[in-house]
Amino acid sequence: MKKSKSPFKSITECSYLVRPGDANSIGTVFGGRILELMDMTASICARRHSQTLVSTIAVEDLHFHRPLVIGMVVKVIAMVNRTFTSSLEINVEVFGEDTYKDEAFLAASGFFILVGMDQDRKPVPVPDLIPLTAEQIQRWEEAGVRREKRLANRKRE
Ligand SMILES: CC(C)(COP(=O)(O)OP(=O)(O)OC[C@H]1O[C@@H](n2cnc3c(N)ncnc32)[C@H](O)[C@@H]1OP(=O)(O)O)[C@@H](O)C(=O)NCCC(=O)NCCS
Repeated sequence: MKKSKSPFKSITECSYLVRPGDANSIGTVFGGRILELMDMTASICARRHSQTLVSTIAVEDLHFHRPLVIGMVVKVIAMVNRTFTSSLEINVEVFGEDTYKDEAFLAASGFFILVGMDQDRKPVPVPDLIPLTAEQIQRWEEAGVRREKRLANRKRE
C-alpha cells in the first residue's frame, strides 16, 4: 500500500563552511558548487520521503539571489512540495548565515524534480505528500500548477 507522509518527515537541513576551494578569484562561491549542495540536500530529502533510490531529472527556477563568500556558514534546506506518481518536487533554499549577528539571508533557491526508482532504475510510485500547514498547502497547490505547465511544454516538444 502507498503510504502518505507530511513534509515534516523528510525536511532536510545541511550546513557547510565556505572554504577557499569553493570560491572563485573574487572570493564568492561558484554557482556550480551551490547547485551541488542543493542537489545533494534535495536528494537526501527525496530519499527520506520515498525510501527508494532517487535521481534528479530536472531543476527549475534556479536563482542565485545574493553571493556567498569564503568563511561564511551556508545552510541548505530542502522540503517536499508535492509528489506525483514516481516524481517529487523539492523546494530548496540556500541561506548565508552571519553567525556573529544571528542573521541569515536567502542566497539561492530552486525546485528540484527527483524520481523514485527501483534497483533497475525504473520509476516506482512514491508515497503521497500530505501538506499540513497553510504554507505547505500553498506550495502543494503551486507545484500542481507548475506540473501542468511542465507537461504541456513537454507535449509541445
Ligand atoms: C530518472 C529516470 C530513471 C526516469 O526514467 P524515465 O523513463 O525518463 O521516466 P518516465 O518518463 O517514466 O518519467 C518518470 C517521472 O519523471 C517525470 N519526468 C520525466 N521527465 C521530466 C522532466 N523533464 N521534468 C520533470 N519531470 C519529468 C515524469 O513526469 C514522471 O513523473 P510521474 O511518475 O510522477 O508522473 C531516467 O530519466 C534517468 O535515469 N535520467 C537521468 C537522471 C540523471 O542521470 N540525473 C543526474 C544524476 S542524479
